[in-house]
Amino acid sequence: MHEEPVRLSVNGTAITAAVEARLTLADFLRERCGLTGTHLGCEHGACGACTVLLDGDAVRSCLMFAVQADGSEVTTVEGIASPDGELSPVQSALRECHGLQCGFCTPGFVMSLTALLRDNPQPTDAEIREGLSGNFCRCTGYQGIVAAAHRAAEVMRATDSPASTGASPR
Ligand code: FES
Ligand code: FES
Repeated sequence: MHEEPVRLSVNGTAITAAVEARLTLADFLRERCGLTGTHLGCEHGACGACTVLLDGDAVRSCLMFAVQADGSEVTTVEGIASPDGELSPVQSALRECHGLQCGFCTPGFVMSLTALLRDNPQPTDAEIREGLSGNFCRCTGYQGIVAAAHRAAEVMRATDSPASTGASPR
């Protein structure tokens, strides 16, 4: 079985591995790195549960091969809180505004919202819904999630805090 070398940073930790070219980034993160916070729902780019940050951009890790992340900085939901466990503004707001129920979709929403609020600190309702249009939630509904986005943006503007308190790439 032929394997390709891959070197990348995951949540601030340098990782070198040899992987089959067909291994997805999602499976690499879950199975090789043990980072099972990146969830797999549809596995074909529709649900957003597998969203991670790749060099700061929100991407669906089920649609990428691990070898395509060679040389990149990847942040998963495990890298969003601070090392001592302090939740990021997005995570705190989702909890405060009841933006989750079963939690399956939540890691994907955390990553998408983290990228969205970094790029747009004061989004409108429409901009939030557009920014989250690639993330599906099957049980909570979206009102609490949109409210959480506004709340996180408000907190971040008031405290000048970054979207991520952890190993954010930028
Ligand atoms: S598991 Fe990747 S988009 Fe659904
Ligand atoms: S909280 Fe259950 S699918 Fe979103």
